[in-house]
Amino acid sequence: MSKPRLSIVLGTARKNRQSQKVAHYLVNFFRQFNELDTTLVDVRDYATNYTIAAWEEDEAAKPWRNLVAATAAFIFVVPEYNRSFPGELKLVLDSELAAYDDKPVILAGVSIGSFGGLAALTSLLPVLHKIGLRILPEQLYFPEVEELFKNSEEELALIYESKLIQVKDAIFKSLNL
Ligand SMILES: Cc1cc2nc3c(=O)[nH]c(=O)nc-3n(C[C@H](O)[C@H](O)[C@H](O)COP(=O)(O)O)c2cc1C
Repeated sequence: MSKPRLSIVLGTARKNRQSQKVAHYLVNFFRQFNELDTTLVDVRDYATNYTIAAWEEDEAAKPWRNLVAATAAFIFVVPEYNRSFPGELKLVLDSELAAYDDKPVILAGVSIGSFGGLAALTSLLPVLHKIGLRILPEQLYFPEVEELFKNSEEELALIYESKLIQVKDAIFKSLNL
């Protein structure tokens, strides 16, 4: 039987995005666990230039729809832009509906400020609730992201390791692993 796919979605297409460091960090962490097929998903490869509703036929929406169908659980890496989340993430999310189908999602906020993207995550919650993803209570925060990733791997592990284990346990539980 194939392994459940964990899609770690880098939720911004911005040039020079710092969130990329967070997405790679999480992918490296989750690739330790052979029970999961952990995939980095870059919203740059999926975002369209306009809204495609879930019920509209459009070739441009197919890659995201296929990805959602193939995914068992998500982690969304979400930078904070003006107290909200990036528009390109909304474009892809709106292009599917039924296939979200109660799949679990963990949110990871990113910001240059000290709150780690909390406002972005809070603004995303009603969207995720509406489209039918299952929001797991564990959340990750990556504040002052440029400074944060100047830390060594060991220093980062001291900050994040135990929280990441909690997140991993929550994902495994939700997937009956
Ligand atoms: C349009 C825009 C708006 C932003 N608004 C906020 C904000 O409201 N609060 C905050 O802490 N950082 C804000 N930032 C800074 C981002 O959090 C910062 O760029 C961080 O590195 C994460 O985004 P990135 O992955 O695009 O780099 C903003 C950045 C952009 C590009």
